[in-house]
Amino acid sequence: MFSSRTPSNFAPNRLTKAVRAARAGGQSFIDLTESNPTRAGFDYPQDLLAPLGDARGLRYAPSSLGVMAAREAVAADYQRQGVSVPPERIALTASTSDGYSMLFKLLADAGDEVIVPRPSYPLFDHLTRLDLVTARDYDLDVHGDWAIDIASVERAITPRTRAVLVVSPNNPTGSYVTDDELDRLAAICAPRGIAIIADEVFVDYEFEPGASRRAGRMASRRDVLSFALGGLSKSVGLPQVKLGWIAVGGPNHLADAALERLELVCDTYLAVSTPVQLAAAELLAQGAAVRSQIAGRVAANYRALQAVVPASSSCRVLKSAGGWYAVLQVPSLESEEDLVLRLLEDGVLTHPGYFFDFPRESFLIISLLPPEYLLADGVSRVLRHFDGRENRA
Ligand SMILES: Cc1ncc(COP(=O)(O)O)c(C=O)c1O
Repeated sequence: MFSSRTPSNFAPNRLTKAVRAARAGGQSFIDLTESNPTRAGFDYPQDLLAPLGDARGLRYAPSSLGVMAAREAVAADYQRQGVSVPPERIALTASTSDGYSMLFKLLADAGDEVIVPRPSYPLFDHLTRLDLVTARDYDLDVHGDWAIDIASVERAITPRTRAVLVVSPNNPTGSYVTDDELDRLAAICAPRGIAIIADEVFVDYEFEPGASRRAGRMASRRDVLSFALGGLSKSVGLPQVKLGWIAVGGPNHLADAALERLELVCDTYLAVSTPVQLAAAELLAQGAAVRSQIAGRVAANYRALQAVVPASSSCRVLKSAGGWYAVLQVPSLESEEDLVLRLLEDGVLTHPGYFFDFPRESFLIISLLPPEYLLADGVSRVLRHFDGRENRA
């Protein structure tokens, strides 16, 4: 009766069951998987959403790619980051996930393929499958810094490949894509008619000043059809407001042809509410107060994490340049799933690396959003778990 776009098995896994049971039983634990900025103790200006009540929103005047004032506001936000994108090259979406769906519809037929980084963001499984697109992996390797394994990109490409996805900085590795990597990807993709989709939702959250400015940016490229994705969800910590965008880059003839078709795709759904479009400029301007709090906290938490995990420890914080997450490499004394369950009993919840498709064990993914004192407490519980144990293993 149902399509195969949704899974056939909805049974919760062991971890989900354990977390539910802990919550139902009132067991308190430090949640180092928190990814919702509105639950992480930031100070949101009380009138931040007031622009959504603008009376101009009472009039419906649909516009497929979005109202020009909002597209200009997004272009101005790119300018703030040092990236020049004309507003005509920007399409508004309801979220970044919605942006992916629009792009898959634009680029791929059923059974076509996109290449996604590994390790990365778990939602790619659903996002691709729901649009009947097949995801194939390429690897990110860590040798101190994370880097794209370009040979693995070439290996993953088939005649059905329609796009290569990059996430910059990546969730959860925190690695920004470099200009050199984009040059190499463009040289592979452009002659084969493959587009590049760059998810830049975390671009503002650098751990060291200048990391974001040094990163390669997709929307400013002219050599390959490219799409950069962003949204209010991360850029100003407002996932509930539902506004994202796609910035189209590449040779003019391809970018224009893409925009013409994207206009039809977006016009079919008209998913972005008028009030949020009218409020976009104000939300981006006033939301900067939230962004700077989040940016300050994630950078401070990353530094604190590096400081509390001593070089002598059996655990290691992997090098990360930005984003909302950090990766802790830990001894493989048990499976990641068993480890995460034991840590939950000890009062701290983390994500296992396999959740993000790390090719081997053992890694824990730690959200840097929680308040500093909670993160410190949670991480000390993780470290205590390993104290002395690696010597007995
Ligand atoms: C890499 C990445 N892209 C996109 C999203 C989702 O963004 P949105 O809320 O705009 O759909 C997330 C959410 O965690 C993410 O980690």
